[in-house]
Amino acid sequence: MVLIWRLRVVLQLLCFSLLLIAIVFLANGEFRGKEISQKPVIKEIKAPVDGSEPKNDDISKAYLRWKIDKKELIDAKSRIYLLEQKVKSLEAKLPKPYPHVKFLSYRAKKRILVTGGAGFVGSHLVDRLIMQGHEVIVVDNFFTGSKRNVDHWVGHENFEIIHQDIVNPLYIEVDEIYHLASPASPPHYMYNPVKTIKTNTIGTINMLALAKRVGAKILIASTSEVYGDPEIHPQPESYWGHVNPIGPRSCYDEGKRVSESLAFAYAKHYHVAVRIARIFNTYGPRMHMDDGRVVSNFILQALRNKTITVYGHGNQTRSFQYVTDLIDGLVALMASNYTHPVNLGNPVEYSIMEFAVYIKKLVGRNNPIGSTEAVEDDPQRRKPDITIARKTLKWEPKVPLEEGLMKTIDYFREELARSLNEGYT
Ligand SMILES: NC(=O)c1ccc[n+]([C@@H]2O[C@H](COP(=O)([O-])OP(=O)(O)OC[C@H]3O[C@@H](n4cnc5c(N)ncnc54)[C@H](O)[C@@H]3O)[C@@H](O)[C@H]2O)c1
Repeated sequence: MVLIWRLRVVLQLLCFSLLLIAIVFLANGEFRGKEISQKPVIKEIKAPVDGSEPKNDDISKAYLRWKIDKKELIDAKSRIYLLEQKVKSLEAKLPKPYPHVKFLSYRAKKRILVTGGAGFVGSHLVDRLIMQGHEVIVVDNFFTGSKRNVDHWVGHENFEIIHQDIVNPLYIEVDEIYHLASPASPPHYMYNPVKTIKTNTIGTINMLALAKRVGAKILIASTSEVYGDPEIHPQPESYWGHVNPIGPRSCYDEGKRVSESLAFAYAKHYHVAVRIARIFNTYGPRMHMDDGRVVSNFILQALRNKTITVYGHGNQTRSFQYVTDLIDGLVALMASNYTHPVNLGNPVEYSIMEFAVYIKKLVGRNNPIGSTEAVEDDPQRRKPDITIARKTLKWEPKVPLEEGLMKTIDYFREELARSLNEGYT
């Protein structure tokens, strides 16, 4: 009896355990089934536009993918940057292609010295002479000139550059001398008036003495400033000028007048072959950013979105010649037999106010035009009489103002971008 009772208890316990196991198993199975049948909802996580990490607490697959893509993008960009740097450094190492240079025979090829050849006008003259096939030596102290202006010739067999101040004598053998070394814009020549006078007197004597010693022809770059604030209009070469000998511009005006005087003295006394170019306002690429004269002032003010400032009433006139026209004139004058001064300039005259409006239109900005105090001794009218140049050199300016100004505006736009990239203002 007792045995039967124990057996019953054991059986009951067994059934109860089996029941429990079944319940647990079923519950587990249901849970796992749910897990398999329900696909995890992967929300599409978009990267916030500000570049910060998505504000989603779930670390989902999409988020991980986004992180990987972002890292790959950063890696790719840095590899591209390194490759670009490499390309730049390799390009710098390769020889530069020079502009096309004509071949001249030994007899036809000249050795030509250009003083001030790293300056605005000088560097364009260097381009022309080398491309004609001549050998050019530049002498410059880099006061206002820049090595960048002639950088494209460095290493060329027909080009040489000497860093020297022409106030010191120079001993070289040359066939022709273009003597251009002198600051040309008022802020530059007024910066050190004594030095400006020395450059135009002692420097010119040194160049004339060199021409005498080696039998070279020499062209002196004089200026329309020898006419001062002229009383006759337009100005022919026969006009003696109206210059204030002690005014703020006299270091330049009188310096150039002495240059002409010296040239004539050397021609008369030592039979040196001299040419004298009286250059009027010239503009074009490679003008100095701080030139301070009207063309660069107006263009830079317009490009910088500033007020275009006109000195005084703006009725004073100027004529503007594009630099390549001047170079044609200089080369023609050197080749001619004409030994008296020759005006080289564009006779088309503009009032400064008209010019300001024109620049504003070409730059395409809406800058205001304002006026500021008139400058002391500022010439009121400037217009060359170019009858002699037309007759003796068969020369006259060809480049229309709009074409020349557009090239100059493009140049200043690039210079401005470059200076901003390099951290200048
Ligand atoms: N640009 C014009 O509108 C203009 C008008 C009239 C006359 N000019 C004459 O043309 C010539 C060139 O003018 P630019 O506009 O090219 O001027 P610029 O200032 O650009 O060039 C003059 C060059 O002469 C160099 N220089 C100055 N003093 C020197 C010295 N003591 N020794 C050696 N080098 C020296 C400068 O570094 C510069 O490279 C000047 O003689 C100037 O008087 C120019």
